[in-house]
Amino acid sequence: SRALRSTEEGQEAAAPTREVIKRAIMENAFMKNLENGQICEIIDYMYPLSHATGALIIKLGEVGSLVYVMEEGKAEVTNTKDEKINEIGPCTVFGELAILYNCKRTATVKVYNEFDIMLSWAFPAAITNCKLWAIDRQTFQSIMMKTGMLKQKEY
Ligand code: CMP
Repeated sequence: SRALRSTEEGQEAAAPTREVIKRAIMENAFMKNLENGQICEIIDYMYPLSHATGALIIKLGEVGSLVYVMEEGKAEVTNTKDEKINEIGPCTVFGELAILYNCKRTATVKVYNEFDIMLSWAFPAAITNCKLWAIDRQTFQSIMMKTGMLKQKEY
């Protein structure tokens, strides 16, 4: 419901951040064909999260409940054998697959920053956080569906 909008909780993304999120969505293979209105609504409902280096954001095989956009930071993507298969940097959507395809999480995503890890030996407090935005599954799916129905009405 609109009452749950992040806007009303005072956590809405500022204009430059909205641009980053929008760019991330438009660069995502599975979301780039969304209408502008859908993208804006997704951004309206996103709320900020932050995780420190080493934190697990997504665990492979689990049921997914959030779609994320990385605003700042770096994460590593690992497979079932705990091998690194990719890196996720700023302005990237991730965690979309389990939500779009109703499957379990296809990989593990963990905040990772070599520099932080090196620095933390000397200065544990110097660790920077990774800045994320998230939208929950139900809200995301209903935005997708609502516009799908509007499209149907046009025919
Ligand atoms: P999901 O399966 O929901 O959760 C794990 C996420 O990691 C997945 O969505 C993708 O967003 C991301 N992901 C999976 N495989 C890769 C990969 N090879 N490279 C980059 N990102 C990936």
